[in-house]
Amino acid sequence: MQIETISTKPYSDQKPGTSGLRKKTKVFIEQNNYLQNFIQSLFNVIQIKGKRLVLGGDGRFYNSESIQIILKMAIAGEAKQIIVGQNGYLSTPAASVEIRKNKTDGGIILSASHNPGGINGDFGIKFDGKNGAPAPESVTNAIYEQTQKIDSYKIAKMPDIDLMKIKTKTFGKTEVMIIDPVKNYADLMEKLFDFKAIRTLFKNGFSLRYDALNAVTGPYAKEIFENRLGAPKGTVTNGIPLPDFGGGHPDPNLTYAKKLVDFMYSNKASDMGAASDGDGDRNMVLGKKFFVNPSDSIAILASYADITKGYKKSISGVARSMPTSRALDLVAKANGWDMYEVPTGWKFFGSLMDANRIVFCGEESFGAGSNHIREKDGLWAILFWLNILAKTGLSVEQVVKNFWATYGRCYYSRYDFEGVDANAAKQMMDGLIKKLPELKGKTVDGLIIKKADEFSYKDPVTKEKSLHQGIRIFFKSGERVIFRMSGTGTQGATIRIYFEKLVKKPQQMELDTQKALAKLIKAALKISRLSQITGRKEPSVIT
Ligand code: G1P
Ligand code: ZN
Repeated sequence: MQIETISTKPYSDQKPGTSGLRKKTKVFIEQNNYLQNFIQSLFNVIQIKGKRLVLGGDGRFYNSESIQIILKMAIAGEAKQIIVGQNGYLSTPAASVEIRKNKTDGGIILSASHNPGGINGDFGIKFDGKNGAPAPESVTNAIYEQTQKIDSYKIAKMPDIDLMKIKTKTFGKTEVMIIDPVKNYADLMEKLFDFKAIRTLFKNGFSLRYDALNAVTGPYAKEIFENRLGAPKGTVTNGIPLPDFGGGHPDPNLTYAKKLVDFMYSNKASDMGAASDGDGDRNMVLGKKFFVNPSDSIAILASYADITKGYKKSISGVARSMPTSRALDLVAKANGWDMYEVPTGWKFFGSLMDANRIVFCGEESFGAGSNHIREKDGLWAILFWLNILAKTGLSVEQVVKNFWATYGRCYYSRYDFEGVDANAAKQMMDGLIKKLPELKGKTVDGLIIKKADEFSYKDPVTKEKSLHQGIRIFFKSGERVIFRMSGTGTQGATIRIYFEKLVKKPQQMELDTQKALAKLIKAALKISRLSQITGRKEPSVIT
């Protein structure tokens, strides 16, 4: 086989963010060797020769072409084995399953997660380490350094490899093993949850509508819900993965999964509604005319650990990202579990799990998961919910309301201001940071500020430090506001503001979330001067 060495030159913008390298698809396609540079840099860092990797993506535009390039580069680099999902598909959680089950040296996932796909959408590459978690900053920084000095890459000159059939073939020193992307993942789910009870639930007429948003989870959901659990055909909607996700935005939230939300708020609603994002790691759960806030969701799941097959044993601890509501803290306290608050981004949970410090973890951004893998897992959360409903006989709404009655209700909302001018966003954040020392003791719209700071974190296991992880303002009456700049956007800047207020009195638990938080929202916007500085009056997304 002929190996070509092709000269290239560095691009300055290949720094991986919270979830890998994410750019406009056109950047990958139109900038010469953009993908090749990054992959060769990654291969240089992990020393690809003799290594075994998992490879797959969420099927978005440029997935197939990228897989062929990466395979040929791995063959040129004399990788020992590449395990590829059939047709190039692997959801993010399934990739983590395969890395761990096959004990590979890591995996490459091609996705821009919940960002739109297609020629005018986004594309991305993420590297997971041998524990199946997103690579730590030490690795991503090393990759970035390589991208800054790269001058050539190696690629095998050969025809494209057929990824349609499940089979194993050797090219040069590299074995390419094409696998069913669904089976191992579905088998693991069956070990964790009571499929028998869920099967009975469906048999007794329970209805689920699952919206795969034309992204990667369609085939997974069909196999699990319709084939293994006996849910009627048609339970899975938009189940065929499309390169541009049918023109939609594959993000399971109230704005972008509107069709599902409208259906669940109509009189025809199913007993439960659910959706996942582009690469399958996020989840949204709805009851009949009822939305489950993701911060509540992870807390509720953890509180029902003992009814599952997989989590009956004692729980060491739980963790949440800093902006996630403190509902999970209440469950941890009641159960005597350790509680960790980490920066945004799933990689921070991985080291806690490897050290057996936590079992469950979650983020407000529709992410929940456990130590079964090292990525968040959309279908896992949905199956956990089904398991709870099957075992308790309650509705989604009843489960949530019982939870509030037991622990109190954390009113919670997130405002996203997308596509903000990057300079204006920076000016606003810098202004806030400068103001922090003088905020303490101030009263804004009747709310007294107790403490204001910037969140920083030192990983208790790896001792790695992460600074500037968001601005926090705590109020005397218990409310909390957080300001953060998104690390995953690809256009301008995205400012996120997170509002939270815990209420323990039952008579105050039935309020509309936006009403319950109105005073706090007004105060936060005033403190930040967001409208004046960015010119934005309304958020693009409210959750
Ligand atoms: C967003 C979410 C964060 C999540 C990440 C990847 O990151 O807020 O919780 O881990 O996507 O799914 P952000 O854009 O806020 O940096
Ligand atoms: Zn995702």
